[in-house]
Amino acid sequence: MIPGSLLHNLKVTPLDAGWYFSGIVENIAEGVDNLKVGDAVHGHLQYSSKTKQGTLTDYITVPASECAKIPEGINMDVAAAVTTEALTAIQAMRDKGGLSKGKSILIIAAGGVVGTQTQAVQIAKVLKAGSVHAVCSTKDASNATKLGADLVIDRTKKAITKALDAASYDVIFDTTGKYAMKKGGTFVSTIPNITDYPPFSWIVGIATGKHSKSLMVKCNRQDLELVGEWMKAGMTVPIDSVYDIKDIDDARERQESGKKSGRVVIKVADGW
Ligand SMILES: NC(=O)c1ccc[n+]([C@@H]2O[C@H](COP(=O)([O-])OP(=O)(O)OC[C@H]3O[C@@H](n4cnc5c(N)ncnc54)[C@H](OP(=O)(O)O)[C@@H]3O)[C@@H](O)[C@H]2O)c1
Repeated sequence: MIPGSLLHNLKVTPLDAGWYFSGIVENIAEGVDNLKVGDAVHGHLQYSSKTKQGTLTDYITVPASECAKIPEGINMDVAAAVTTEALTAIQAMRDKGGLSKGKSILIIAAGGVVGTQTQAVQIAKVLKAGSVHAVCSTKDASNATKLGADLVIDRTKKAITKALDAASYDVIFDTTGKYAMKKGGTFVSTIPNITDYPPFSWIVGIATGKHSKSLMVKCNRQDLELVGEWMKAGMTVPIDSVYDIKDIDDARERQESGKKSGRVVIKVADGW
C-alpha cells in the first residue's frame, strides 16, 4: 500500500538505491553458524520504510536469516536477478493462494518480470499444480508453453474476462491489479487493494464467496534456498543485459526502454 517512491523518500539522504543483491560475505556476527567469510550469498532488502540502505554500494549489512548461499554453478548475476520476483511468485501462489498438488491456477501477466518471462509458471509446475493456465501477449506465448503452461491465453486475441467468468480456478495470480475473480476460489494480487484486508475481506468473502488477497514479498533464507534448489534443477532466469555501475544511466535507459527481455543487472564490484 506504500508506493515505492514513498519507500525511497523515507530512506536517509543521500539516497541509497537498489534492492536486489549478490555478493561475498566479508564479515560475520558472532553466533551465525550457517555462513562463513568468503561465502557467496544473495537476497533482497526488505521492502519496508525501515530499510535505510541500498544495494548499489560496496557493502551492505543483512541478517543471516534474510540471505542464502548461492548454489554452486549459479553465477552472481543470475543469483541477484532471481530474488524478488521468484520469492513474490512463491509467496503469492503457495502462501496466499494455497496452491498445492493438483490445484488449478491462472497466472495473469505471465510474461512480466514477476512472471519473469513466465517464472511463475515454472514455480507453479514445481508446486505440482494440476493445471497451469497463463495469460500473456503474443510475444511471450511460446515461452510460456515451453516452460510448462498447460494452456496459454493470448490476451491480444482473446478476452481474459471470459476465463474469469468461468471461475474454474482454485487460484488466480494477478500482477496487474486490473482483474478480480468472479466467484469462488482465491485471488492473489501483487497490487494491494483495501478489500484484501480485514474486516473488508471478511465481508466480501461472506457476501460473494470470493477470497481476495495481496502480498508484500518478504526476503527469507528458506525461500531463497528453495529457489536455489529449483535453479540447480533447471529453473531458468532470463538476463537481458549486464552493466557496470559507472554505466548506470544506460542501465536505467534499458530498464525503462520497454525493449528488455529479462532482468537488467548492475555490477558494483568493479567500482565507479
Ligand atoms: N507486492 C509485492 O511484494 C510485489 C513484488 C514484486 C512486484 N510487485 C508489483 O507487481 C507488479 C508487476 O510487476 P512486474 O515486475 O511483473 O511488472 P512488468 O514486468 O512491467 O510486467 C507487467 C506485465 O503486465 C502485463 N499487463 C499489462 N497490462 C495488462 C492487462 N491489462 N492485462 C493482462 N496483463 C497485462 C504486461 O504484459 P503485456 O506484454 O501483455 O502488456 C506485462 O507482462 C508491479 O506493479 C510491481 O510493483 C509487487
